[in-house]
Amino acid sequence: MKSKSVYVCTKCDYQYPKPLGRCPQCGAFGSFVEEKYEEPAPEKTGSASAARRRGAVRSEAAMRIDDAPTEDSVRSGTGYAELDRVLGGGLVLGSVVLLSGEPGIGKSTLLLQICGVLSKTRRVLYVSGEESSAQLRLRAKRLKVKSDELYIFTETDMDRILSECERLKPDVVVADSIQTLYCPTTPSSQGSVSQVRDSAQALGALAKNYGISVILVGHVNKEGGIAGPKVLEHMVDAVLYFEGERNQNFRIIRAVKNRYGATNEIGVFEMTDHGLEEVENPSAMLLSGRPKGVSGSCTVCCMEGTRPIIAEIQALTVKTSFPSPKRTADGFDYSRLYLLIAVLEKRLGLKFSDYDVYLNVVGGLRLDEPACDLAVAAALISALRDIPVPYDLVVVGELGLAGEVRGITNLNSRVREAARLGFSSIIIPKRGTDIASLPDGIEVKPIRGIYELLPLFPKKDE
Ligand code: TYD
Ligand code: MG
Repeated sequence: MKSKSVYVCTKCDYQYPKPLGRCPQCGAFGSFVEEKYEEPAPEKTGSASAARRRGAVRSEAAMRIDDAPTEDSVRSGTGYAELDRVLGGGLVLGSVVLLSGEPGIGKSTLLLQICGVLSKTRRVLYVSGEESSAQLRLRAKRLKVKSDELYIFTETDMDRILSECERLKPDVVVADSIQTLYCPTTPSSQGSVSQVRDSAQALGALAKNYGISVILVGHVNKEGGIAGPKVLEHMVDAVLYFEGERNQNFRIIRAVKNRYGATNEIGVFEMTDHGLEEVENPSAMLLSGRPKGVSGSCTVCCMEGTRPIIAEIQALTVKTSFPSPKRTADGFDYSRLYLLIAVLEKRLGLKFSDYDVYLNVVGGLRLDEPACDLAVAAALISALRDIPVPYDLVVVGELGLAGEVRGITNLNSRVREAARLGFSSIIIPKRGTDIASLPDGIEVKPIRGIYELLPLFPKKDE
């Protein structure tokens, strides 16, 4: 065998025989690393395991689409409705799921808990390259995970993992984490782009050949993306992100890619002393610490997939000491904030130019729906005029550039959620709304334009 080397961009997996200062494909600077590889010797035998090691997927004969297995026969509940919803109804057998998130967010905890549930009906193998078996056992005890069909294996060598899978014949394999695994036949070092790619490929082939569900843990890099080659995301069926503030207890799981379901659903968990617990009523949790009688805070009802969630938006305006005022947005689109400020300045004559503006969505939620515009605008006006938004009011609606309030989707479920949580009134768009069809139990205030919000915040000297 002849050893050769190639230079690979760590951002996008572009390969070139020489190191380049700037990647011609993704434009990243200084991202090339050397990867050694050996030219493969011609394959002597066509044995199944040799083929599998190379990541080959066994092919099936063609069949009529009606004869293919149905969805019910291939999905398996994880025991956590919050996670099942994000997966599109449960774990698909033979699929590869990548769960990614910052260190310490709770990936291993969540997976061990799921393994505990799944192993009641299936055989589960938890491969850990990060923790010792004693540590895993200690954690399982703390999480009260106990099962005869849950196997742990502290190994990082892919060949040994594959032969253990062959011996044990598990239904579910968890690999924690993909960055710690290595294929002995790939000459580059552990955690390198080609090691991650080859290990993921071997596990992907294992999933497809034997109908095993594989869950991979992926570390994130400094920019928040998944560490390793970009192709990793294409090699798996679903990519989930586990997020949250480390010093707070809620965790949100969301899908950024899912071949078997929608990607707009979220699952909400809370980290407790005995592991992660599902939060069935996220609105109540997000509102639990809401300040009363303080300006700049406004509640909105956003849709996270099919579920309405009440969230709190906070705005703070302070006299600026900079030549150009500062604007920051956490959980909300930064350029949308600029746009809304521009609309408020032009249509209502408010002056934000002397103020720094800070906007924050409480609880790590990300609001990317236009239906949240009006609540952001209300929080901004409230902060500027230093008059609180009524405590029991929810605001929903999209704001147009002319200051008009535009219709939104799912109005009924939003109004119902606000009523369910005991809010007494909700501001909604008048356009495109059939008031009579809305649920009762809450006072509905339809408005046409942004100017109709002003009476809530009378100028102090008026
Ligand atoms: P872990 O699952 O190890 O995170 P990851 O695999 O994403 O790196 O989670 C570790 C954190 O979770 C650690 O800070 C302790 C906390 N934790 C709890 O609060 N309660 C628990 O029951 C467990 C097991 C962990
Ligand atoms: Mg871990």
